[in-house]
Amino acid sequence: MDAKSDSALRRSTEQHVRFIHGWTDNLWSLRVDKPADFHFQPGHYARLGLPVADVAPLWRPYSIVSAPSEPQLEFLITLIPDGAFTCLLVKLRVGDPVLLESAALGFFFEPQLAPGEDLWMLSTGAGLGPYVSLLRTPQALARYRRLVLVHSVRAAAELAYADELNMLAAASGGRLCYLPVVTRETGATVLSERIPQLIADGRLPAHLGLQFDAVTSRVMVCGNPDFTADMRRLLNARGFTPCRRGLAGSMLFENYW
Ligand SMILES: Cc1cc2nc3c(=O)[nH]c(=O)nc-3n(C[C@H](O)[C@H](O)[C@H](O)COP(=O)(O)OP(=O)(O)OC[C@H]3O[C@@H](n4cnc5c(N)ncnc54)[C@H](O)[C@@H]3O)c2cc1C
Ligand SMILES: NC(=O)c1ccc[n+]([C@@H]2O[C@H](COP(=O)([O-])OP(=O)(O)OC[C@H]3O[C@@H](n4cnc5c(N)ncnc54)[C@H](OP(=O)(O)O)[C@@H]3O)[C@@H](O)[C@H]2O)c1
Repeated sequence: MDAKSDSALRRSTEQHVRFIHGWTDNLWSLRVDKPADFHFQPGHYARLGLPVADVAPLWRPYSIVSAPSEPQLEFLITLIPDGAFTCLLVKLRVGDPVLLESAALGFFFEPQLAPGEDLWMLSTGAGLGPYVSLLRTPQALARYRRLVLVHSVRAAAELAYADELNMLAAASGGRLCYLPVVTRETGATVLSERIPQLIADGRLPAHLGLQFDAVTSRVMVCGNPDFTADMRRLLNARGFTPCRRGLAGSMLFENYW
């Protein structure tokens, strides 16, 4: 057992799976018990661990989808073909044990952003998770005039939480716009190109009737690292500034690998 795995194991607890919902064969939500002393804010991730015969447990980070007030921790997980961890995780059933590192981790926190008018929450694949946590947390985003959530997936069946998000948008009186983008099925969504392209050519802001600039817009970007790299280049060129320790900025990033 290496030192890293050993220290994680010592600071972990065994929890149990309480709920599983499959969105597709390769994408599912999982809820596990939340220990009474496990505290987090939207944007945090937790490290889950699974025992492996004769070697140290495997650990991987997963963004928390649930709100801090919910009794369980929820995660949205993509099955990676031949993925060392997800190929084990996908076999878990309700009641099975899973290790949970004792502290939540991360830096993808909306409050790091400087005051702005509109919050743009941009995601690919399972990168949607932190935004569901934010939207489930009352008052978390009260300071914004408009909220835009864009979720890019290959196929429409991968639009996890779409019903919940459509309901939140309908109840928001026009304040929240939920925009799914399906990139590999023709005609599934109004906009079907990759998010950076839709912003670069102005179609996304125009579609929503919103300005997209470093003065009014605050931007969170989560998911595929090629996507976050493309967005970083685009936003840098438009004058957006990163959040640094103790210094508020206008853009925030979370890479999943
Ligand atoms: C801060 C953070 C938060 C994360 N949150 C989530 C989350 O909420 N949900 C989630 O499914 N994953 C999340 N991940 C990724 C997760 O930790 C694992 O890397 C992933 O589940 C693959 O593990 P594996 O052992 O099965 O694959 P590995 O055998 O470790 O293979 C890794 C490879 O799979 C690909 N890959 C990894 N994660 C993804 C992904 N999510 N979507 C597409 N391709 C991927 C990449 O090519 C990567 O190189 C997060 C990662 C980080 C760093
Ligand atoms: N989703 C599936 O049907 C499927 C099937 C078999 C295996 N897998 C495997 O599952 C894993 C996860 O797949 P995933 O579909 O969840 O994640 P993904 O490959 O990151 O795709 C999710 C969304 O992100 C978009 N995207 C990818 N790179 C981008 C970039 N540089 N800029 C902007 N947008 C970008 C994709 O658009 P594009 O469509 O334009 O790439 C898609 O809309 C991968 O390892 C994949 O090989 C997925």
